[in-house]
Amino acid sequence: MNRHLLSSADLTRDDVRMLLATATEMHEVQRRHVKKLPTLRGRTIINLFFEDSTRTRSSFEIAGKWMSADTINITGKGSSASKGESLRDTVRTIDAMAVDALVIRHMASGAAHQVAQWVDASVVNAGDGTHEHPTQALLDAYTMEQRLGDLEGARVAIVGDLTHSRVFRSNAITLRTLGAHVTLVAPPTLMPSGIGPWAAAEGLETTDDLDAVLASGPDAVMMLRVQRERMSGGFFPTAREYTVGFGLTRDRLRALSDANEEAVICHPGPMNRGLEISADAADAARSLVLDQVSAGVAVRMSVLYHLLAGEGVAA
Ligand code: CP
Repeated sequence: MNRHLLSSADLTRDDVRMLLATATEMHEVQRRHVKKLPTLRGRTIINLFFEDSTRTRSSFEIAGKWMSADTINITGKGSSASKGESLRDTVRTIDAMAVDALVIRHMASGAAHQVAQWVDASVVNAGDGTHEHPTQALLDAYTMEQRLGDLEGARVAIVGDLTHSRVFRSNAITLRTLGAHVTLVAPPTLMPSGIGPWAAAEGLETTDDLDAVLASGPDAVMMLRVQRERMSGGFFPTAREYTVGFGLTRDRLRALSDANEEAVICHPGPMNRGLEISADAADAARSLVLDQVSAGVAVRMSVLYHLLAGEGVAA
């Protein structure tokens, strides 16, 4: 039985449809006064976060608790990793306590795959370095579908710091799995080097002309955070110049609205207001930023349900 969720590439279209359908049911629970299901009673979920998080960690914890699992949070700073314990020893130690799932965020790309080789528990990738963030892509797809309907044929632009983004990779894969057309927009310095063959194989367009993309009237525009903490050099001259070329400014928000009055705006968060996204865009009626956060709980309930109580979702 499939028992991990490590990469969006492991999910078939049927897997994604199943997860989003269950998320719709879980979203109903979220709207109830008493938010509790017995579904995962007796199961133990460890959230092991070696990188900071607000949305992902809290939503996984809430998701587990609302399904009656015992959820425990461990962070890198508060664990024996800070005393030099290796990742392998840390996860094998936790696994020896007979936990059922490990939700892991780590700064190293590939960490979740590696951990899955070492433990008996189900492993969920909650973000590994610049590689993937599959539950973010699922919640983004769920959120867009709630507003736009089926994403088959929808046109989605993903804009910004692609080089340092795990969200973009998982989103591009999941959106293509659902039949959306995806255009990747970034300055040349923040377009991942060597992306050409992969983009071609996935059917993704690439460009550095944000204004042309907005004028074409995409159905959704996903702005990505400029990840300064991952930048070792100068990827753009100044913050002001980045905003002029690639920020969703008030003027660009107007251009998008003129081109497609139904278009929506997404951002996985946390946002750099005034850098990649203006306050006007972040707080616009067409902004789905808080809908994404809300969907995060429902989608993670769905993932945990299928991994721990259902048929599994991925290899
Ligand atoms: N989008 C996202 O992963 O946010 P956090 O870092 O707050 O979890």
